[in-house]
Amino acid sequence: MSTLLAKIIHQSTYSVKMVSNKTVILVTGANSGIGFETAKALATASPDFHVLLGSRSVEKVQKAIDDIKTTLGDSIKAGISALQIDVCDHDSIKAAKDQIETQFGKLDVLINNAGIIVYEKVDALTSLRRTFETNVFGQLITTETMEPLLQKSAKPYVVYVSSEQGSISERLNPEYKYREIRGDHYRMSKAALNMLSACHRYNYADWGCRVLAFNPGWCVSNLTGEKGREMRIKLGARDPKDPAIALVDVVFGKRDADIEKNGLVDLDGGVRPW
Ligand SMILES: NC(=O)c1ccc[n+]([C@@H]2O[C@H](COP(=O)([O-])OP(=O)(O)OC[C@H]3O[C@@H](n4cnc5c(N)ncnc54)[C@H](OP(=O)(O)O)[C@@H]3O)[C@@H](O)[C@H]2O)c1
Repeated sequence: MSTLLAKIIHQSTYSVKMVSNKTVILVTGANSGIGFETAKALATASPDFHVLLGSRSVEKVQKAIDDIKTTLGDSIKAGISALQIDVCDHDSIKAAKDQIETQFGKLDVLINNAGIIVYEKVDALTSLRRTFETNVFGQLITTETMEPLLQKSAKPYVVYVSSEQGSISERLNPEYKYREIRGDHYRMSKAALNMLSACHRYNYADWGCRVLAFNPGWCVSNLTGEKGREMRIKLGARDPKDPAIALVDVVFGKRDADIEKNGLVDLDGGVRPW
């Protein structure tokens, strides 16, 4: 064999990386609430999916996976596995990206769900910094770190789990249902997240990436702690399975027309004002 031919064979052998034929979906904050129900719903949706349950806690995510396996048993169709990712820790995000690259060679859907409300009594600056660190900076850095993997997908999606609480138009609407709720820092962070989703929609359009900010509705979850969870149940907050069903529709492309519209993609269909 000539040296040149040997060199070509060597280069092609080592430059071709394995790319999964599954639709690879990462849900951040998947050990609890809306993220957990979304991972669960995706797990039964298609054998063509591989669902990565992102969590900052290895213990919590293992418990979540055990729970899914116990509850769903044979109705699980997709591959499911855990991925450690703390959206406030750049090294952790980078390690998660490297792991996805090694295992799957690409990422098809990124559901940026991890989020917080600071409900403990702390000073305003601490509350603002913590809120923005997770709900805005964490989402931005996660997406931009995953960008090269999303570019390898045939039909990539980036979802930002936002909130109608971030809508500036609704804040000033006297008819708005949740007008009495304060939560200024949380509202500001979700408004910034809506702008981030609009910027990424614009920036990523040339490589066909669909980007959306999603309104999951007011749901029972651990977002405001145990007491908050009880209060949500008492006041009739929705089941987090509802936004999970809507997010499965997003992954199947059933909400593509809404994603084209100018606004927050709503769990019940259509869009809400930014
Ligand atoms: N529930 C609602 O009514 C509602 C309404 C509108 C929007 N949302 C949005 O929906 C998303 C999910 O919230 P949820 O209601 O399901 O609350 P949740 O039950 O508290 O779930 C939030 C998830 O985010 C994770 N998380 C927080 N900080 C993180 C970080 N730095 N890195 C990685 N993961 C992190 C949490 O992990 P730990 O368990 O380790 O804390 C948890 O898994 C949030 O973005 C929230 O703003 C919720």
